Amino acid sequence: MKIMVVGGGGREHAIIKKLKESSRISKIYALPGNGGIAADAECVAIGAKDIDGIRDFAKQEKIDFAVVAPDDPLVLGAVDALEGIGVPCFGPRANAAIIEGSKVFSKNLMKKYNIPTAEYEVFSDLDAALKYLETAPIPTVIKADGLALGKGVIIAQTRDEAKNAVRSMMEDKIFGESGNNVVIEEFLTGPEVSVLSFTDGETVIPMVSSMDHKRAKDGDEGLNTGGMGTIAPNPYYTKEIAKECMEKIFLPTIDAMNKEGRTFKGCLYFGLMLTEKGPKVIEYNCRFGDPETQVVLPLLESDLFEIMQHTAKGTLKDAEVKFADKAACCVVMASSGYPQKYDSGFEITMPGDKNIYVAGAKLENGKLLTAGGRVLGVTEVGASLKEAIDAAYETVETVRFENAYFRRDIGQKALAAENA
Ligand code: AMP
Ligand code: GLY
Repeated sequence: MKIMVVGGGGREHAIIKKLKESSRISKIYALPGNGGIAADAECVAIGAKDIDGIRDFAKQEKIDFAVVAPDDPLVLGAVDALEGIGVPCFGPRANAAIIEGSKVFSKNLMKKYNIPTAEYEVFSDLDAALKYLETAPIPTVIKADGLALGKGVIIAQTRDEAKNAVRSMMEDKIFGESGNNVVIEEFLTGPEVSVLSFTDGETVIPMVSSMDHKRAKDGDEGLNTGGMGTIAPNPYYTKEIAKECMEKIFLPTIDAMNKEGRTFKGCLYFGLMLTEKGPKVIEYNCRFGDPETQVVLPLLESDLFEIMQHTAKGTLKDAEVKFADKAACCVVMASSGYPQKYDSGFEITMPGDKNIYVAGAKLENGKLLTAGGRVLGVTEVGASLKEAIDAAYETVETVRFENAYFRRDIGQKALAAENA
């Protein structure tokens, strides 16, 4: 079977490495992939947002199955375009991807179907938003409606900060059209858990839980990033909480999407906060998380390709989905300066026999060079979380590139929670 994976980051590299374990796949293309992915798939220079290019390539190469991994092409309708020419896909259609594409949509969905989330108000008018902020509880959370590269969320500690955030989104348009509408919501506290799930619109199968580390610096300091490392499973996510989430959040969400005529098929990502009043949804993503995928898939013992085919066909209830009773840790190695300004073009040397997922690198004259903020993620699996963390940091020491920066405390909070 000829497979095509749309996307070009560490998440896509992890998906491709897992798919390669399936005996039924003969060829994998990555659109566009990257210099590191090139070791595991044939990279094709078609951008992930080039929907016509993606569709034409699939037709020309007679692709048997497509995996659309990033948010942009999903929201832009890549799955609709591919299904339109008869290519089965893993991923939601545009009308379901809106669950991530519009925060106003997802908040209104949760309100309508009683799915626990932070209290909120929606504004399309700057003056009304500013007036609301005169009396809103502080801290408060301001979110741009549309996709904003994971940066559209501002936690304001003061009234002035909140007003500036709203002005920057609605007046200065720092996130473009994404800021036409803003959500202002209640500030919640508690441990965060990422739960990725397979769903075909009828069955929902949660994967092993995970924990992201979003801030740039140790101790959760510094700017928000795409994610500096992950561990799985998340020790805060107990069996009891998992059961509660299934009843109050996962099944009701799948149901709600069906009732709205927007059946969701693919990977639905639940970003949860475990508050004193129970688990609440912080965000939905219409795709695998990055870098959550880099710890979740190495723990998957079943055949990913079969699960994806069942998901696409609507027969997920027949799929075998089994995770190892082990732990995984992924440490992201970034270019120093990320998420702001950084230099790139430095040669990367790394062991060839490890689970290293390349995110930002290019091949030039046979050399692998850094070409992005997040350069790669080093994942190790262990019998315990501590073993996985230690092994990951040991492997990090064997990877070299000038300018490398990584957090030294990935998994420490989880270890402390385990021992509490
Ligand atoms: P997001 O980009 O939606 O993942 O949000 C980024 C981060 O902002 C989340 O991982 C949370 O840590 C934080 N956040 C988002 N919404 C809230 C909220 N209502 N209360 C507290 N923190 C939040
Ligand atoms: N790691 C968070 C995300 O993928 O959105």
